[in-house]
Amino acid sequence: MTYDLIVRRARLRDGRLVDIGVTEGRIVAIEAELAGEATETIDAAGRLLSPPLIEPHCHLDAALTEGLAGHNETGTLLEGIQRWAQTKPQLTVEAVKERAKRAIEWYASQGALVIRSHVDVCDPNFVGLRALLEVREEMRHLVDLQLVAFPQEGILSYPRGAELLEEALRMGCDVVGAIPHYETTREMGVESLRIAFELAERYDRPLDAHCDETDDDQSRFVEVMAAETIRRGLQGRVVASHTTAMGSYNNAYAFKLFGWLKRAELNIIANPPDNSILQGRFDTYPKRRGMTRVKELLAFGINVAFGHDSVMDPWYPLGTGNMLHAAWLGLHMAQLSGYDEIPLVWDLITTNAAKALGILDRYGIEIGKPANFVVFDAASDRDALRMLSPALWCVKDGRVVSRATAPRVEVWRGEDFVMIRYERPGEGLLLGG
Ligand code: FE2
Repeated sequence: MTYDLIVRRARLRDGRLVDIGVTEGRIVAIEAELAGEATETIDAAGRLLSPPLIEPHCHLDAALTEGLAGHNETGTLLEGIQRWAQTKPQLTVEAVKERAKRAIEWYASQGALVIRSHVDVCDPNFVGLRALLEVREEMRHLVDLQLVAFPQEGILSYPRGAELLEEALRMGCDVVGAIPHYETTREMGVESLRIAFELAERYDRPLDAHCDETDDDQSRFVEVMAAETIRRGLQGRVVASHTTAMGSYNNAYAFKLFGWLKRAELNIIANPPDNSILQGRFDTYPKRRGMTRVKELLAFGINVAFGHDSVMDPWYPLGTGNMLHAAWLGLHMAQLSGYDEIPLVWDLITTNAAKALGILDRYGIEIGKPANFVVFDAASDRDALRMLSPALWCVKDGRVVSRATAPRVEVWRGEDFVMIRYERPGEGLLLGG
């Protein structure tokens, strides 16, 4: 049998060492010592082969705009919003496309081959949206991109916000967005969600709202999202992003809320890089962490994923689109450091995110599924998280779309330089075989 591609000696997340055969963009064989030839062969040498990482929450229309309207000197959310307002009039379709494409290459080359990006539709000219609709097509070889129509300045608090949101769906957005906590009043926030859910039903699209992204313990829109989801029978199709206020709720309310989130099958996306920096800014000490209750939500059986959110924009000046950075930081912020918790964090940027994005039916290392996977320079998910390992081969639809060389580190041992790896003696890769 001749395959298009065989990856030999790949270590799956469950520890099995297998060869993977790919033909016509699909996984057609997973077995130890697969017989047959291939046009292209990769020797993974015992390295981790994972389904692609997923970036479930970012803003590609803002990516790499840091500094365009001056730098965020205070580092706060409020100055970020002000800088973005100054940046928006400068945006052009071509420049947004150029930056978004670079950011996508950064994400993909580090293992993220699926991206959900919000795009600001509070703009009668739809500059960002027109750019990203083209980018979605032009970058299909690297990533599957979902676009959320995101009313950054409000559905009801921005002139013609609801009309613009609906127009963005007609133009081709995949997902309906909202930002209820940003609307002027509680009542407007609730009404904005009703409008967003109405559109989600009418246009048959999933919904992903920025929700309760504040330290205000009175910001309780996620309960409205749960209620609307159940009332309309949209279980599993709704994401509440951020929900940082949950970190400030009293426990009696939070645990009552968990029951409703679970019944609604709501997905929660936490964004450790942005929220660890932007929240808690009005606190002195003790100072809040700016995160939703990741560990407790998971323990309750609610689906949680991690997003990176920003890459060099007015809100967050750092980042290279490496989802391992987001997961590594999230692991710390959520204290998911128990021995068996560490590999679970990998789920938050893979399978849990795939579930939140509604793509589980075509995601994973299984015969018949699209050949999308990544080989990391580590022997396990646990090690890849610990070492922030590079993605050596990224394969999308059966084609290698990104490759990297493992960094070579040599240390002086008194007589000569010796190559070292950050693995304990006796553990690690099958090098030299
Ligand atoms: Fe966001």
